[in-house]
Amino acid sequence: MSLLSQTLARVKPSPTIAITGRARELAAEGRDIISLSAGEPDFDTPEHIREAAKAAIDAGHTRYTAVDGIPELKRAICDKFLRENGLEYTPAQVTVGTGGKQILYNALMATLNPGDEVIIPAPYWVSYPDMVLLAGGTPVIVEGAMENGYRITPDQLEAAISSKTKWVIMNSPSNPTGAGYGETHMRGLTDVLMRHPHVWVLSDDIYEHLVFDDFVFVTPAQIEPGLKERTLTMNGVSKSYAMTGWRIGYGAGPVELIKAMGKLQSQSTSNPTSISQYAALAALEGPQDYLETSRAVFERRRNLVVAGLNACPGMTCPVPEGAFYVYPSIKDLIGKTSAGGALIADDEAFATALLNETGVAVVFGAAFGLSPHFRISYATSDEVLTDACDRIRRFCEGLR
Ligand SMILES: Cc1ncc(COP(=O)(O)O)c(C=O)c1O
Repeated sequence: MSLLSQTLARVKPSPTIAITGRARELAAEGRDIISLSAGEPDFDTPEHIREAAKAAIDAGHTRYTAVDGIPELKRAICDKFLRENGLEYTPAQVTVGTGGKQILYNALMATLNPGDEVIIPAPYWVSYPDMVLLAGGTPVIVEGAMENGYRITPDQLEAAISSKTKWVIMNSPSNPTGAGYGETHMRGLTDVLMRHPHVWVLSDDIYEHLVFDDFVFVTPAQIEPGLKERTLTMNGVSKSYAMTGWRIGYGAGPVELIKAMGKLQSQSTSNPTSISQYAALAALEGPQDYLETSRAVFERRRNLVVAGLNACPGMTCPVPEGAFYVYPSIKDLIGKTSAGGALIADDEAFATALLNETGVAVVFGAAFGLSPHFRISYATSDEVLTDACDRIRRFCEGLR
């Protein structure tokens, strides 16, 4: 009898975590490595949030809490949704988990039955399809082409919906492309969803605050109140407040769903870390100027990286609306051979040769469901990004 479950056999480990690990190993061997593969801000958590966590420890907030979040944090989350998204939720409609990741996982695990379909626009965050598979569902991938700004169209969504569709997962701005659905694009999709009352909407808004130029963030339940009763609006403090390690995410939606998610969490992790909950409370209730400071830094870096990559022969890098990723196309480089003798047969071969020959670690597009592309996370300093773009340009110039 095999040790491992059939469920686990259906999924693969996160490729982004694997590549980050490989880059770390090479760096430990003494190689000069620039890792642009990890999806986390390079800033420290703001001081007032760190202080709130220390105060929480000293105040004795070190015990189990309510499974899906302390009441103060749930209230602060309700205030956030009202203040920033015009969405009215009560604490009973809110759940707090160990990162946004657990919220998504809980929602899918609590609702999917074998055969249920989940529509996932590609390129997608690597975990969506595997979470759906773990929960026994079937991912239905809909490709957002580069020519459409990496957005899926209303017609594509309409065509993908079947009687078995349980959820559609929306992620704007997106990991890995940074593409955003502004009100017009989002409304195109919510109009379709209004015609299919059996489909639930999972909106992953984790990059809400990282938007650039004149892009205005919207979330489905906000622009189409008719969808609110079948929408889980998910968010978290990881990316907005540089709190990836604290592991706090949250979701808001109908009470029946929220209760089911809490039931699942009560039999797995129980409450998210008590101290982190107090830190998240300080993040949501405290001064918000950090949001604009970090947004402006990321916008500057985006401009730097887009210009640097578009200067690479054979590469096309669209300008993303948000997040901290770019997703250039390397269509014109496929079939070439690198200066080190590697055949660039696909985007995985490109990423491998790039790492081996220049020390720059990026994630290949196949991991996100759209090739031939790669993803760069530009959550690092301007100096490092300039160095990385130079190395990538020289690599491309050496391709024959
Ligand atoms: C699109 C997206 N959703 C959710 C998450 C999960 O974030 P966390 O679990 O740190 O809150 C990430 C993290 O990389 C992400 O990129």
